[in-house]
Amino acid sequence: MSYNTILVTKKDVVATVVINRPKKLNALNKETIQELHQAISTLNDDEDVKVIVLTGSGEKAFVAGADISEFADFSMEEGQKLAAKGQELLFDFVESMSKPVIAAVNGFALGGGLELAMACHFRVASDNAKMGLPEVSLGLIPGYGGTQRLPQLVGKGRAMEMIMTAGMISAEQAKDYGLVNHVTSQEDLLPLCYKIANKICNNSSVAISYAIKAVNAGFMNTVNGYEQEIEAFGACFGTDDFSEGTTAFLEKRKADFPGS
Ligand code: COA
Repeated sequence: MSYNTILVTKKDVVATVVINRPKKLNALNKETIQELHQAISTLNDDEDVKVIVLTGSGEKAFVAGADISEFADFSMEEGQKLAAKGQELLFDFVESMSKPVIAAVNGFALGGGLELAMACHFRVASDNAKMGLPEVSLGLIPGYGGTQRLPQLVGKGRAMEMIMTAGMISAEQAKDYGLVNHVTSQEDLLPLCYKIANKICNNSSVAISYAIKAVNAGFMNTVNGYEQEIEAFGACFGTDDFSEGTTAFLEKRKADFPGS
């Protein structure tokens, strides 16, 4: 199958999915999310594939976030739908895959990009990678699971600081936080992921799929934080801060938040 915004290749039992919109720093638009869903679902059903590696094209970005130009004029309902649909089609979907999905974070992983990397089963980063959840700088909050998965991975205090400051952390700091498992040069990023993938392939695929399910089960709460995130994300779209934040980004200027 061929896609417009992603590339899929297979070597032995490892498939590589590359998000391929380098001019837009691989920002996730509706089409990319749909195509990633389709490709990952197909690979999950492909008996010849045992591990999936997900990365971004070019040397600059894994994914620089959700495509801001697509939702800058959304209403609260549309915002809520955007988060719900994205979580269902891609982020929760990747996390619940029965085959291991490794994120090869090759550059900026911001907003939806970091959320996508966090939905993968684990992460390996190149030393130029930069990670963050900058949504509050746009008058938004993370809407693709970031408020839930970041605290799971780095702890509540670090997650709160990263979300509130909208800042970026380096690959080394991300490793220190436990957000990524390994840091290597950009050149060695995919070879290292394939090395880990090959090690995984020596083991029982069935057992691995049960292990993924069991580990994920430990993070399911009685109060559904993901649903609360979707509601709060949608509410942001009714604020003047959101309108100013996204307009400022698209006009390439600093936001001046009115605070409502
Ligand atoms: N949505 C839509 N377009 C995006 C994007 C996003 N999340 N991130 C980058 N782009 C586009 C830019 O608009 C630009 O397009 P243009 O060349 O048509 O103007 C192109 O990708 C290159 O980005 P640019 O900002 O020129 O690169 P840079 O090196 O100066 O800065 C970043 C890199 C990642 C710091 C900057 O692009 C950025 O802040 N992106 C948004 C990050 C973000 O807020 N993500 C969360 C979204 S909810």
